[in-house]
Amino acid sequence: MSMKLMSAVLVGVGIGFAGAAWAAGGPTDLPASVTEKKDFGCGAKGQKPCPMQGWMKSVMQSATTSGDAAKIASALEYVASKPPPGMAKWVAISKEGAEKAKKGDIDGAKASCKSCHDLYKAQYKDSLRDAAF
Ligand code: HEC
Repeated sequence: MSMKLMSAVLVGVGIGFAGAAWAAGGPTDLPASVTEKKDFGCGAKGQKPCPMQGWMKSVMQSATTSGDAAKIASALEYVASKPPPGMAKWVAISKEGAEKAKKGDIDGAKASCKSCHDLYKAQYKDSLRDAAF
C-alpha cells in the first residue's frame, strides 16, 4: 500500500470514529419517543396552525385580551363541549373557568388556561394535534 493511500484510510477511520463517538453521546442518542416527533402536517415552522392551536390563538386569545368576560365564558364553554378521549378533567376545568368568567372573575377564568395547559397540552400536542376542533 502506498503512503498516500495509507493516510487516506487512516483519515477515513478517524472520521468514522469521531462520528460514532458523537452519535453515542450526542443528540441522536435520545429515545425514539423524543426524536421521532409525529408529523401532523400542521403546527411546525412553515406549516399552517393545527386546528385547536389556531382556534386557541384566534378565538381564545382574542377573548382574553379583550377582557370581555362573556366572550371568555363562551369560548371556555366551547372547549368544554369538545373533550378529547382520555382527558378526564378537560370538561371540569373548562366549565369551572367558564363559571368564573360569568361571575366577572377573569383572573379566576384564566387559571383554567394554566390548569389545562399544564395537564394536557403536551399530551394533546403529541397525540391529537390534527384532530378537528
Ligand atoms: C381544557 C383545556 C384547555 C383550556 C381550558 C385552555 N386551553 Fe389553550 N390550549 C389547550 C391545548 C390542548 C392546546 C394545544 C393545541 C395545539 O398546539 O395543538 C392549547 C393551546 C393554546 C394556545 C396556542 C399556543 C401555541 O403555542 O400555539 C393559546 C394561545 C392558548 N391555548 C390560550 C388559552 C387561553 C388564553 C386559555 C384560557 C382563557 C386557554 N388556552 C384555555 C387546551 C386548553
